[in-house]
Amino acid sequence: MKQQSNHFALDASNTRINAFVITIAAIAAVAGILFGFDTGVISGAILFIRKSFHLSTVATEIAISAVLLGALFSSAISGWFADFFGRRNILIIASIVFLFGTLGSAFSQNIVDLVLSRFVVGLAIGIASYVAPLYLSEISPAKWRGALVSLNQLAITVGIFLAYLIDDFFATDAHWRWMFAMGVIPALMLFVGMLFLPKSPRWLMHKGRENKARNTLKRIRQVDNVDSELSDIKGSLKRTNWKLLLQKWVWPAVIIGAGLAFFQQCTGINTIIYYAPTIFQLAGFKTAAGAIQTTTIVGLVNVLFTIIALPLIDRLGRRPLLLFGLTGMILSLIAMSLAFYIGTDSPTLKWLAFGSMMLYIPSFAISLGPIMWLIITEVFPLEIRGVGTSLMVSLSWGFNFIIAQTFLTLIQGLGARGTFMIYASISILGWLFVYFLIPETKGISLENIEANLRAGLGCRHLGNHR
Ligand code: BGC
Repeated sequence: MKQQSNHFALDASNTRINAFVITIAAIAAVAGILFGFDTGVISGAILFIRKSFHLSTVATEIAISAVLLGALFSSAISGWFADFFGRRNILIIASIVFLFGTLGSAFSQNIVDLVLSRFVVGLAIGIASYVAPLYLSEISPAKWRGALVSLNQLAITVGIFLAYLIDDFFATDAHWRWMFAMGVIPALMLFVGMLFLPKSPRWLMHKGRENKARNTLKRIRQVDNVDSELSDIKGSLKRTNWKLLLQKWVWPAVIIGAGLAFFQQCTGINTIIYYAPTIFQLAGFKTAAGAIQTTTIVGLVNVLFTIIALPLIDRLGRRPLLLFGLTGMILSLIAMSLAFYIGTDSPTLKWLAFGSMMLYIPSFAISLGPIMWLIITEVFPLEIRGVGTSLMVSLSWGFNFIIAQTFLTLIQGLGARGTFMIYASISILGWLFVYFLIPETKGISLENIEANLRAGLGCRHLGNHR
């Protein structure tokens, strides 16, 4: 894989912006939107489901996190699925699973139906969150790979925002079933879109179908001579070796990836993304509709700051953005915690809570949001890039599950003050982790990073020029 910098540089000499590239970008976007939509939609719906099904705190947490458990399971085995069924076929299967899970959620008659259906949706999300970027990176021209990683994060935030808008639209009449049902639209788009895309040439080579791989490459690159790319693919296929993950020289990559997956989730982003309306109600917003409407602003700010962040990642670098963003997250979490000290009956509390979120969300969107997804694709050596990345994706779902499953219980036990102080403390550790261990990989080729790993350099120095 070539260097993944210059995300938005559409260098005409290396990149043909043809209909095919636009189609794959659109499919990338749909997969990300599904991820965002199906994880975000529960935030508003849960206020009404809680009442309809008379849910306890723990049952509410289970309803919210069932999707994450599904994603955790399937992302752990999606590398194997992707090899066995092929990337394109498994994405088509995932979109069908999405459809069933979505309809199941919309028609569920009790909490058990709902949890099972959301688990099924999660299975599809876990596959899409790993296989869609993998498939896209295998079929897109090298220059576009980094951009697609970033596009994925942008699409996730757009999906969350759309979910909030839909929640808002149906909130006045408490139509939570419609909130879920709208997920059918992106699922159908993914299904139809994938039917028009070719099988991954890399997967075809892996299955020994060289002629088919050659013809597909010719078609998608729109050139006749694809020999050198084919031989690159061949070379990298031979070299896949899972056991490398256990070797000491690869550990810095594992520490960086696992650390980022931990801090991206355990600094509390999804307590806001999934529970913002619940927090707003705690903070004094009287009606569910009012809380949900205010949440749409959170979703919009998330999208806008992701757009601002993406070109900056290669201009300013990963480290300054991470450190700057984490500083904002620490301050806003402390502010959120202090806001709840003034007592839940104070009218200023709700605006303080809203203000803290307005600092927290942009801080996350310019730092841990996109940069964790990018760095986990950069640090692993070629031979285990796929395995390493998929492991980090599963870890991220695992941490996401733990946070979503414990948030309300923590609020009940420690109060909102204590709970947000815990996330603030974890963010401080995250800042130190980045400061001491995260390398600057801006403008450094993936081969250079791999050479540093092989030379035994520690985490912080993986971005050194060779
Ligand atoms: C995270 C998600 C989160 C989203 C919020 C993503 O990078 O992985 O868990 O919901 O950002 O924008």
